[in-house]
Amino acid sequence: MRIYIKTYGCQMNERDSEALAGMLAARGHQLVHSEEEADVLLFNTCSVREQAERKAIGKVGFMKKLKQKNPDLLIGILGCMAQRRGEELFCELPHLDFVLGTGRLHTLPDLLEKLAAERKHVVDVTESSAVLTAMGCHYPAPGSCAAQIAITRGCNRFCAYCIVPYVRGREISRDRADVIREARELADTGIREILLLGQNVAAYGLGGNIQPPPPDVSPFADLLEELAQIDGIQRIRFTSPYVSYFNDRLIQAIAATPKVCRNIHLPLQSGSNRILQAMNRQYTAESYLETVEKLQTAMPGITFSTDIIVGFPGEEDSDFNATRELMERVGFDNAFIFKYSPRPGTRAATWEDRVPQSVKEERNQLLLEDLAARTRRHLRALVGTKQSVLVEGVSKRMQERWSGRTDGNRTVHFLPVDGLKAGDMADVRILRAGNVSLFGEIVRKEGK
Ligand code: SAH
Ligand code: SF4
Ligand code: F3S
Repeated sequence: MRIYIKTYGCQMNERDSEALAGMLAARGHQLVHSEEEADVLLFNTCSVREQAERKAIGKVGFMKKLKQKNPDLLIGILGCMAQRRGEELFCELPHLDFVLGTGRLHTLPDLLEKLAAERKHVVDVTESSAVLTAMGCHYPAPGSCAAQIAITRGCNRFCAYCIVPYVRGREISRDRADVIREARELADTGIREILLLGQNVAAYGLGGNIQPPPPDVSPFADLLEELAQIDGIQRIRFTSPYVSYFNDRLIQAIAATPKVCRNIHLPLQSGSNRILQAMNRQYTAESYLETVEKLQTAMPGITFSTDIIVGFPGEEDSDFNATRELMERVGFDNAFIFKYSPRPGTRAATWEDRVPQSVKEERNQLLLEDLAARTRRHLRALVGTKQSVLVEGVSKRMQERWSGRTDGNRTVHFLPVDGLKAGDMADVRILRAGNVSLFGEIVRKEGK
C-alpha cells in the first residue's frame, strides 16, 4: 500500500511516526509524500493545546473530498488525540476508518492489513507498555546524520495544566541494553548525533518514581556515559529533562562527557513560585537558578533553552514579570513560549480566574521580543569564535552553501570544501551573525 503520514505535536510524536514508517516499509509498503497518491492516510496527532487538536480535526475533515473520489482510501487517526477522544472522533469525522491510541501504535501494520481485507470502523485505545519495546525501527531521511531514540514513554508528574500523562500513560523506561543496541546500529549506518527522547528523560531508569533520587544516583548519567563510548557517535542531546533530576552525579557525568552537547533544554514554565506551585512543578525559581548555576560552573559557556507558559490561571503581572526577569537572568538563547490552553480532565481546567486572551497575547509578544533581542546578542557574541560543527549537507535556504549545527545547536552556513560530506565534523570560524543563524568558513575538517 502507498502510505502518507502527517505528524502533529512534539518530537516524541515525530519519532513514533518515523518508527511506524520503518515498520511499514519493512512490510513492503511504500511511504509517499502527498495525500493524493496514497492508499492510506495516517494522522499522528497531539492534544497538548486545543489548537493542536483543532488543526488535525480540520485537516482530516478536509480529506473527505479525497475519500469521495476514492472510496477505498483508508484514513486513520493515531497518537495522543486518538487516545483522548477515541470513539467520539467518528461522530465528527464520519469518513474516518480507524482510531489507534498511543499504547497500540505498534499494531498498526497488522491492523492495516486487516482493514484492507475487511472494511470496518476500529477503535483501539487500550493502554499497553508493549509499544515501548516494539518501536525501535528507524526510517532515516537520505543522507541524514542525526537520529532520535525514545528512552522513556509516558509521564507520572501530572503538572496541573498538562494532558500528556492522560494520553501517554504511565512513565516507563526502556532497558539500557536495548537503547545501547539501537544507538550502535544507528552509528553503524552513519548516524553521528543522537537525540534521546522522553517527557522526563533525566528520570530514566528510576521506575517512574517522581521523587528525585539521592545526589549520587542517576541511571540517566550511566546511560549517557555508556552511549558516549560508542564509536561513531559524536554528539548526544536529550529532551526534555525535569530540572529536579540534575543532581551532582548527573552534572558531573555531563561535564566529564564532551560528546554530550553543552546546550540543554530545561523547561521552566514560570519564574513565579506561586504559579510554579499551582502548576505542581516541584521546584522553585531559586532552586531552578541554583541548578543552572551549578551547570554553568561545571561547564562554562553552556547555553539553555526552555518552555514557558503564559496566562496560567491566576497569573498576575507580578508573576509574569518574575518569569521575564528569570529568563533574562538565565539568558535563555532559545525558548518555546505557549499561551495557556485549558485541557479537559486536567486539574487546572477546572479553575476559574482565567487570564483574558488579549493579556496572554500581550505577554507572549513581550517574551518573544525579549527572546529575539537575546538571540541576536548571543549570535553576535559568537562572531570571531571557532565552533565545532556537525556538517548536515547543502543548506536548505542557499543552494551554494552548506550548513551544519554547532554544539550549542545553532545553524551555521558555510561554503563547502573539497571532499566535505554530511556527517563530517568541521571547525568553522564564525564571520557573521544573522537573526537566527550564523555564517562562517571552514578552518579544519575532520581527519585533516
Ligand atoms: N515533558 C515536558 C513537556 C512536554 S509538553 C516537560 O515537562 O518539560 C511541551 C510543553 O508544552 C510544556 O513544556 C509546556 O510548556 C507546554 N504545555 C503543556 N500543556 C500546556 C497547556 N495546557 N497549555 C499551554 N502549553 C502547554
Ligand atoms: Fe506534562 Fe509535566 Fe509530564 Fe512534562 S512533566 S509531560 S509538562 S505532566
Ligand atoms: Fe502532543 Fe502527545 Fe507530544 S500531546 S506534545 S504529541 S506527547
